[in-house]
Amino acid sequence: MSESSTGGSQGKATFTRRRFIIGTVGVSAVAALGGTVVRAPRAAASSPPSGPPTTTLPLPTTTEPEQLLLTWGSDPAREVTVSWNAPGTVAQPAPTLAVSTKPITAGNPGWLIKLPDPKPLDVTQRYADAASVSFTDELNGQTTYFYHVQLTGLEPGTRYYYQVSDGAAAPSTAGASFETAPAGRAKFRFSSYGDLATPSWDLNTSGNIWHESCDNSWYAVTAIENPGDGRGAPLFHLLNGDLCYANLDVDNAPGVWRDFGNNVARSAANRPWMPALGNHECEFGTDTRSGQPGDAPGGIAAQGAAGNHWNGPYGFGHYLSRFLLPDNGLTNWDGNRLRGNFYSFGVGTVKFISLDADDVIYQDGAANYVIDTANTPPETTTTGAEIPNGTTNYTRFYTGGLTLDASGNSLVPDYASGQPNPQTIWLERTLADARRDWSVDMIVVFMHQVPMSTSTSGNGSDLAIRQAWLPLFDKYEVDLVLGSSCSGGAEKGLMLCQPSCRFRSSVALGLPVTEPQPCAASGWLSRRWLPLGSRTAASRTP
Ligand SMILES: [Fe+2]
Repeated sequence: MSESSTGGSQGKATFTRRRFIIGTVGVSAVAALGGTVVRAPRAAASSPPSGPPTTTLPLPTTTEPEQLLLTWGSDPAREVTVSWNAPGTVAQPAPTLAVSTKPITAGNPGWLIKLPDPKPLDVTQRYADAASVSFTDELNGQTTYFYHVQLTGLEPGTRYYYQVSDGAAAPSTAGASFETAPAGRAKFRFSSYGDLATPSWDLNTSGNIWHESCDNSWYAVTAIENPGDGRGAPLFHLLNGDLCYANLDVDNAPGVWRDFGNNVARSAANRPWMPALGNHECEFGTDTRSGQPGDAPGGIAAQGAAGNHWNGPYGFGHYLSRFLLPDNGLTNWDGNRLRGNFYSFGVGTVKFISLDADDVIYQDGAANYVIDTANTPPETTTTGAEIPNGTTNYTRFYTGGLTLDASGNSLVPDYASGQPNPQTIWLERTLADARRDWSVDMIVVFMHQVPMSTSTSGNGSDLAIRQAWLPLFDKYEVDLVLGSSCSGGAEKGLMLCQPSCRFRSSVALGLPVTEPQPCAASGWLSRRWLPLGSRTAASRTP
């Protein structure tokens, strides 16, 4: 076990936007070997399975900590949240976290934080600084356990060591270290991609193949720890949605998430990984869209046909259990707090904004291709839930509506409905605050679906993002927009404003924005937006 190098270092006051963008693209372009500071579980299987399992497979009943995960708080110079999991369906007896600026040893036990007994996920409630959360997957009945400690009052630019324990009679522990963000103007590296998926059977903890398993998922995490250019790992990573595609393995979503969590922990135990929601985080279940148990006559089997086919709030039950992200302070119309669905944080002089484009896009959740054979009966899962053939999750406007502003062919919060889209209102307020703040030089937005791409055959872009959010990105001069979700002829997702021009979309120019899939090779839009590659899922490339 060895400590990895750090990505953050103090910079000079002459730092410019141009230099920042060049440095960022460099991080995305490199590939490398890598090490890890935490246990990296490997497959127990000795030969490949024939394909994804079609029945629910058991999860472990052991409790040793795994799936370590760091995320920033709202102020990354002083706030880091440490999260971890039990391996399967048994809660840890007495979980604890120890933290210190020196390695945790028998002689230096650190500051010890004890966690409470787990409570089922309830996003109507505020989290305590230390929280244990359980979530029961509604399609296979498995309950898994998540532990979170929100550390505050940390020192900027400082390395902290931590160790988590299950608190068993013979305790099992795991740990690593992290560095807080620098305070004020400073040089740092970050990395970004999405569509990570899970490794294939030979590199998965479980030894299973899931629907989107791909060994690039393993090597992509390795590359974050060692970019291979001799400049060290990034300070943190942005994971732009479609994390593991657990929604496609309807009988084993918790098992898919576990393999994802252990793969990512090889890096996320050492540096924050900040996610955005993608369409594949929206999972089938038996709840209403707001996450309340469906009460259609006929019990569990009848809920799907009645439209109660969501796994927790908006289908995001696993995501919201696993990640305790910066709080946007908003409560939705249905009483659910929207913490973590979209959020912002600042590192150095850069404001980062994570958006949930599921709330805006015209596209659906793309979840139906597992069960889309014509004239076939519903998919019946382990719990007896029945998902009708062809069902898809559609969460557009789950926070509130947008309406067309014909003068600019743009989408704006629908105040007349009494339920205007709060994410878009929050986005404009956050952008305006950042542009008024003299300590913010740059604004970086990351999300899953992209406003445009070079794909001509897939869901590479979404008109609604261009209508609702590009005018705001233009107005407030967002410097960089990172995405991921492209399918078809091009796997592109990172969008870079060419430094020689200002951000101006057709709205700002008084022209319509109606292209369903604008192509980077033609048209005036390509002069202002430059899609670059970032998707990781592909064939094996060590
Ligand atoms: Fe996607």
